[in-house]
Amino acid sequence: MTVVLITGANRGIGFAIAQAISVSLPTSTVVIGSRDISLGEDAVRRLQMGGVATALYTVPLDIENDASIATAANIMEERFGKLDILINNAIRLDTSYPTEMEASREISNSNFNNAVTSNNIVTRTFTALLRKAPWPRVIMISSTRGSIQRTVNRELPPVVSFDYCITKTALNMLTVQLQAAEDGNAESDNKITYWLASPGYCKTGFNGFKGHKDPLECAEVVLRLLKSNRGEIRGGTFWEFEKGHFREVPCSIKKSRKQCNTQNPLQTRGLSYSRAIQAQRHSVQVSKLSVQPGHRQLIRTSTGNHRIGAAYAAQTLSKPLTVVRLETVVPEKLEKIQIYGIDVVLYGSETGLAEQHAQRLAKSQGYTYILPYNDPDVIAGQGTIGLEIMGPCEQVDSIFVSMGGGGLICGIEAVVKPFSPRTKAYGIAATNSKALGDSMAVGRVVETKHQHTLADAMAGDIDVECNEKDIW
Ligand SMILES: NC(=O)c1ccc[n+]([C@@H]2O[C@H](COP(=O)([O-])OP(=O)(O)OC[C@H]3O[C@@H](n4cnc5c(N)ncnc54)[C@H](OP(=O)(O)O)[C@@H]3O)[C@@H](O)[C@H]2O)c1
Repeated sequence: MTVVLITGANRGIGFAIAQAISVSLPTSTVVIGSRDISLGEDAVRRLQMGGVATALYTVPLDIENDASIATAANIMEERFGKLDILINNAIRLDTSYPTEMEASREISNSNFNNAVTSNNIVTRTFTALLRKAPWPRVIMISSTRGSIQRTVNRELPPVVSFDYCITKTALNMLTVQLQAAEDGNAESDNKITYWLASPGYCKTGFNGFKGHKDPLECAEVVLRLLKSNRGEIRGGTFWEFEKGHFREVPCSIKKSRKQCNTQNPLQTRGLSYSRAIQAQRHSVQVSKLSVQPGHRQLIRTSTGNHRIGAAYAAQTLSKPLTVVRLETVVPEKLEKIQIYGIDVVLYGSETGLAEQHAQRLAKSQGYTYILPYNDPDVIAGQGTIGLEIMGPCEQVDSIFVSMGGGGLICGIEAVVKPFSPRTKAYGIAATNSKALGDSMAVGRVVETKHQHTLADAMAGDIDVECNEKDIW
């Protein structure tokens, strides 16, 4: 027996959800939450008259009244001993906008109280009961009006009520936060799944029956979520069923493909706090090393900007770091790294020599040597750049990545490919020093001539052993 409680189910979409569940998931027990118990009883009667055989109950529940919420939770506990599914559907919205400040504030607060605070309190009150179910689920009935992306992209008709949009956006955030808290709750081994559902524009009393869809059509999105198997649909996500398609509603700000094309979004990593693309790559590794006993002083080398990233990560995590740099280092780059208060050793005029020197120092001084590019943690850090590239656009056709040792392109590809298999990544090598480019062309690590290049951050040999090892 799956026990489902729907708030505000005596009419409108809530009633339709109760009807749809009763028909499509007949082993469920459906409880109609209604602030007026006689309206709840009437709703049960109407469903029974329609031939629904599911176990049907009603419970008095005013989501804005704490005593009523507590009583409803007690009734549910006594009657069923658990709650499998809570559907927060109830809504009451005052759309008047008085010019008087005090009255206007009161209305907004009251709308927020109904649509956000009350759903939060109901959910929290029922959490203990939900935890007694084998797979507890909470569905928040939201609206596409709560999607910032659709609003930014002007995909929605003109707004009737600002409060409605604002409260639904807040409800979305509340749900995402509840899921995040649940996922991070180490004490619970029976985690609650929280979903958001957008029923679509529906003919109900809420909008004077002006909507396009029949309430039962609006209930379909809830049915789709409830019919999914555990783990199939990630919690904290927002869904709709429109024109025969069950799909995720975007919550965040993501520009449409058309806007991306016309705006040519540019990732200016050089303007980031570390003035370099590489802070992420080292943050992952340095933070892992920081918590390991025995790893005291870190040492690394490279001709690229990575050292600035490493220096930034080391300073942020209070980890001592020595960097071996070529004697030919550009003074401006040397200055940048020294700002982070780390030791700099100048050695040799070629990367290979500097790296060997760093390894020798690591051995003799007991330092931990950080691989510049061929390390899974370093590559994992680079992967975050892939996420940032994908973030603002629905689709990315091509990514052009500079290649020194290949760690950057490897990390970005590892993240981008699973999300967007059609995206092509192009590695860019320096014409005067293209160790990885030449090696990739023949399928093994080969020696290359290195000549002076302006792209000094991409220049230098690659490590034969490390590049051929299968790190994933
Ligand atoms: N209709 C649409 O086009 C549409 C579109 C997108 C999203 N939605 C969402 O779908 C949900 C249902 O909307 P609807 O169109 O079915 O609205 P509706 O027809 O106005 O029904 C609202 C229900 O909520 C109940 N309610 C209001 N305040 C309550 C409280 N304090 N405690 C308990 N119950 C309370 C009402 O009870 P009473 O009968 O006692 O007033 C009623 O049963 C809402 O969350 C709405 O935002 C609707």
